[in-house]
Amino acid sequence: MRVLVAGGAGYVGSALVPKLLERGYDVDVADLFWFGNHLPAEVGIVNRDLFDLQASDLEKYDQVLFLAGLSNDPMAEFSPSKNFIFNAAAPAYLCYIARRARVRRYIYASSCSVYGYTENELFDEDRPVSSHYPYGISKLQGERAVMQFADDDFSVIALRKGTVSGYSPRMRFDLIINTMFKTAMKEGIVRVSNPAIWRPILSIEDAVMAYIRAIEANERISGIFNVASGNHTVGEVADLVRNTVEEELGTRLALDIKHVKDVRNYKVSIERAKNVLSFHPHHSVRSIVRNLIDNMPKCNDWDNPNYYNIRVFEHLEETVSREPASAVSGD
Ligand SMILES: NC(=O)c1ccc[n+]([C@@H]2O[C@H](COP(=O)([O-])OP(=O)(O)OC[C@H]3O[C@@H](n4cnc5c(N)ncnc54)[C@H](O)[C@@H]3O)[C@@H](O)[C@H]2O)c1
Repeated sequence: MRVLVAGGAGYVGSALVPKLLERGYDVDVADLFWFGNHLPAEVGIVNRDLFDLQASDLEKYDQVLFLAGLSNDPMAEFSPSKNFIFNAAAPAYLCYIARRARVRRYIYASSCSVYGYTENELFDEDRPVSSHYPYGISKLQGERAVMQFADDDFSVIALRKGTVSGYSPRMRFDLIINTMFKTAMKEGIVRVSNPAIWRPILSIEDAVMAYIRAIEANERISGIFNVASGNHTVGEVADLVRNTVEEELGTRLALDIKHVKDVRNYKVSIERAKNVLSFHPHHSVRSIVRNLIDNMPKCNDWDNPNYYNIRVFEHLEETVSREPASAVSGD
């Protein structure tokens, strides 16, 4: 089976692609490599913007995965126009040309952020979604667009992922547990922005398995699936991070609790992913922290700007805006 992973050089893709190779898949990655290339050497590289791909470029693939775009709120707010182009238009365009190229399945990296602010109820995929901020709205637009293309010959699966955490060769320290872990190790403190807020947490290993289950599901399956390892309040996540680090490393950590208003608050049911995709998470906040401890020697240069999406993105945007017009247009 040949698979194209668009945005496959990012945090999730850099953990997923080696596992796909291990399972015998032939994998290419199409990416702009904003965060460098941390992929195994045997991966085919397509160093292009997704909008430069044509249907003829996709004819050789059985499945196409979309893991690209602006992957957090700070990036979306820094460039709202690129947010809507890369998160809403790009997945729709790639799905359109994949279907024209007779690709059999398209898998879209959606997000539980589409649920916006809910009042402590468990949300399944049939509940109404209502995001009121650019990232969540753009992820929902992308999801709605790609689902329109599903038919009997073209499967479309959207995975609404919880906040992913754990070690990846393309590391991020701007994701809830990873950030708490970094400040615990660097400053001896676990910071909590709002202990009452609910979040579905997804270990990177469970995220990788969710994609594998989607790739290997019966060809007739299409649909939207919540995927998470567990639902927790941010306050509970902080306690679990703190206790695990203290137990594993024998250190003492302080706790800093604030009560900052948040636009996101949701917990999700993963029953559909269990029943239809056979997705069963095997990880917990504690096992995510142990995974981070085990991999710490590979990423303890905590202030490396590459670990923070917004820093890399701001730099890229400044570089583009400083280039002379002729260089931008290619004249
Ligand atoms: N990380 C999470 O917690 C999380 C949670 C829910 C959903 N998601 C979604 O999952 C996907 C992957 O997340 P991630 O954390 O791996 O993101 P990431 O920011 O680490 O990686 C995104 C990759 O996409 C590439 N890219 C972006 N726009 C492109 C374009 N137009 N053409 C080619 N390449 C492009 C970038 O170079 C980068 O390598 C994203 O769509 C994100 O919105 C992530």
